[in-house]
Amino acid sequence: MVDAPFARFAGADLPEITSSRATPFYAHDLDGMRQAGSELVASFAGAAHLVAYAVKANSSATVLRTLLGAGTGADVVSGPELDLALRCGAQPDRIVFSGVAKTDDEIDRAIAAGIASIHVESIEEIARVASRARVLARRASVSVRVNPALAKEAIATHSHVATGHDEAKFGVLADDMRYAIAALAREGDAIDPVGVSAHVGSQLTEVGPYLESAAALIAIAQEFRKEFASTMRLVDTGGGMGIDYGAGCGVVPGDFVRAVRPLLERAGLGDLRHVIEPGRCLVAPYVVLVSRVVQTKASPSRPELRWLLVDAGMNDLLRPALYQANHRVAVIAGGSGEARPWRVVGPVCESSDDFGLHELPEGAPAIVCFRDAGAYGFTMASAYNGRALPGEVFLSGGRVVHEVPRAPAERWVEDRLKA
Ligand code: LLP
Repeated sequence: MVDAPFARFAGADLPEITSSRATPFYAHDLDGMRQAGSELVASFAGAAHLVAYAVKANSSATVLRTLLGAGTGADVVSGPELDLALRCGAQPDRIVFSGVAKTDDEIDRAIAAGIASIHVESIEEIARVASRARVLARRASVSVRVNPALAKEAIATHSHVATGHDEAKFGVLADDMRYAIAALAREGDAIDPVGVSAHVGSQLTEVGPYLESAAALIAIAQEFRKEFASTMRLVDTGGGMGIDYGAGCGVVPGDFVRAVRPLLERAGLGDLRHVIEPGRCLVAPYVVLVSRVVQTKASPSRPELRWLLVDAGMNDLLRPALYQANHRVAVIAGGSGEARPWRVVGPVCESSDDFGLHELPEGAPAIVCFRDAGAYGFTMASAYNGRALPGEVFLSGGRVVHEVPRAPAERWVEDRLKA
């Protein structure tokens, strides 16, 4: 059976939108994102909260403004992401900043902006933030990112995106928290200890590991509050809410919030601001990467070898090459006959430039799209192999409301001539 063509997306006609545009480009459903943001905000049911959207997942200003408009704040991991969030209108007290190796300049910007929390990831960073705050004659709001040190096997996700195990570089080990607390107390003239945070991993398709991490964090938060009762304001249980890439996902993002709330209430922490840092779930399902088929390739002597050569490559969408991620491929236009397996590959000179085997029509389609490409798609794109970055099209109410076309190929040549 051949799937019906994926012609309509976000209420718009994809073949028509593609006909006048260079491919590959990412097409964004802003209405879908807005609704996902609102639903997640509503899942707190009135409790003090901050949905700090992880800007690294998709940092297009149009996306960021859409989510901010739906009631989110921002989770940033670099000075430029912080500047972007501020320039898109994020209120400083709705921004948190994580990262294991923040530079002095990045720490300075965060302190100067007065953001809700600088999430420190090591005991050493506490003294660095304090000394920068003294230089700026400001106080810094600081949370400690805790590494809940779960068993690696307990975090059911790809090993490259599991962070909350004890050999990960992220956060302060739960066993080391007393040293972090002592360091915060020592730097009390420059730092307000405002909370604790954790992030166990990404693309979690069940709440179990998230709850386990939250439970460990909550025990630490209770200790933290005893020490810093007057300044503690937040508990940040992190991002990681998974989506259905086609293999199924039994949870919706709000389920993670609804599961953690009772734990916080029971621990006497229900009055604190409950922060979460979702990235993927707010953007991934609402974007497709549109690509033209360049040609087919077959081996007359090995008929089982058949490739569909498309104009999107691993430089445009890195996830399959880096994490063996599967992005469903759908037909936008063309194609005839019964479905058969095609190996869909891009133009980049790497064996890993391979999007996997997909059931597509025997008579090759002309335009296809990779689904669920809104998170860690464009943000991880590169110009490898002299390839221009993909274009971006933003849809709302069934029409294109904004776009950044794919850069002309000559621009890459001009740039490299300068080097
Ligand atoms: N907070 C922290 C501290 C993080 O490290 C991350 C993601 C997030 C929040 C957002 O996680 P999300 O809700 O999006 O799962 N490039 C990989 C994912 C890397 C995630 C890095 N950290 C991928 O394409 O699957």
